[in-house]
Amino acid sequence: MDVNRRLFLLGTTTLAAQAFQAETTVNTAMIGVGGRGSFLLQGVLKQPNAKVVALCDIKPDRLDKAATAAARDNPATYADWQRIIDRKDVDAVFIATPPYLHSEMAIRAIQAGKNVYCEKPIGITPAQVRALLAAARGNKKVFVAGQQLRSQKQTQEVVRRIAGGVIGEVIMVKAQRHASSDLPHDGTSGDWYFDVTKSGGYLIEQSVHNLDLCNWAIGAHPLRAAGFGAIQMYKNDPPGRTIFDCGSLTYQYPNGVMMSFTQNVFHPGSMPNGNQYVYVYGTKGAVDLMTGNMYPPERGSQPVVLAPRQQEDQYAHLAAFYDSIVHGTPPPVDVKVGATAALTAILGHEAMTEQKVVTWSDMGVEV
Ligand SMILES: NC(=O)c1ccc[n+]([C@@H]2O[C@H](COP(=O)([O-])OP(=O)(O)OC[C@H]3O[C@@H](n4cnc5c(N)ncnc54)[C@H](O)[C@@H]3O)[C@@H](O)[C@H]2O)c1
Repeated sequence: MDVNRRLFLLGTTTLAAQAFQAETTVNTAMIGVGGRGSFLLQGVLKQPNAKVVALCDIKPDRLDKAATAAARDNPATYADWQRIIDRKDVDAVFIATPPYLHSEMAIRAIQAGKNVYCEKPIGITPAQVRALLAAARGNKKVFVAGQQLRSQKQTQEVVRRIAGGVIGEVIMVKAQRHASSDLPHDGTSGDWYFDVTKSGGYLIEQSVHNLDLCNWAIGAHPLRAAGFGAIQMYKNDPPGRTIFDCGSLTYQYPNGVMMSFTQNVFHPGSMPNGNQYVYVYGTKGAVDLMTGNMYPPERGSQPVVLAPRQQEDQYAHLAAFYDSIVHGTPPPVDVKVGATAALTAILGHEAMTEQKVVTWSDMGVEV
């Protein structure tokens, strides 16, 4: 075949592929349309290939509100999530229910051949994560865990530079997730968040994002963890509370890399060094992962901007999910990243709860 003819055929194939992609409609269903689910729904409605065909929530008011937001697509509404999974015409399922439900719902969706976007944490116990990993083995459909920080362009570049040796060998990380107050006790998630059996606790439910960043920067998962957690400020508040409001942990990674992590919900907003950071220390300097600045070790040296702050698309992660479905591009976060992040948080939670050193292998999950 001559080159021109090959190029012509290639051109028509590309055009045909583009036309196919433009016409591809991804029938989308959402399970859980509370705070996060409603936010995701707004993003779904912006995606060129997405059509919202079904919505599910056990709370009728939230379901109504979501159905109104998605009125363009006239979705069916359900209180029973199994009805969504049973629908043969549903291609993609978003799961934004409380964490203790994620694994079971995601497993059923995978088994029914759906593409799945599952909010973090993908599981709150080793058994849940293990079962989900087993269900996902050999899965040909897309699975994205809601660790959306992995889709931030600035952080991607900073991590790439760290992996490329800009600070030499990574030897230690110091990170924190501090907040100035507890989540609202009467807020949308107030009926499950403070129950450790439903949320997994602050470390598993919230710090899973920060711990994932640490794993990403170090390029490994921890081998063991030790630490303490407690309820210091919000004792029996709300009544029956079983999640810690603070904790302090040390993780050990391969090659002796250490990570020190603290969390609390009583860091006054006006006090310096609050909120969240990940400092990555190497043999040739340190990086503040969240600002993208690198600090050379020489006394008096100026910080170097590794990647400038940029306007990030708040729906980049979700858009990448659709790209994977329609164009076959690799998802930004697969089930293994989601599982590793969840297990890192579970490891820390178990160390704080049992007040002893817990090893990765104690959890009995092969990622
Ligand atoms: N990626 C992020 O940055 C981010 C941010 C916020 C929340 N989240 C995650 O999203 C999830 C939901 O959090 P949220 O803040 O939206 O909580 P929420 O309570 O506001 O929403 C959860 C919804 O799930 C519904 N639900 C509960 N059980 C159900 C069931 N059996 N079937 C169908 N619906 C059910 C509830 O009625 C509620 O409307 C959590 O896992 C949370 O960690 C992720």
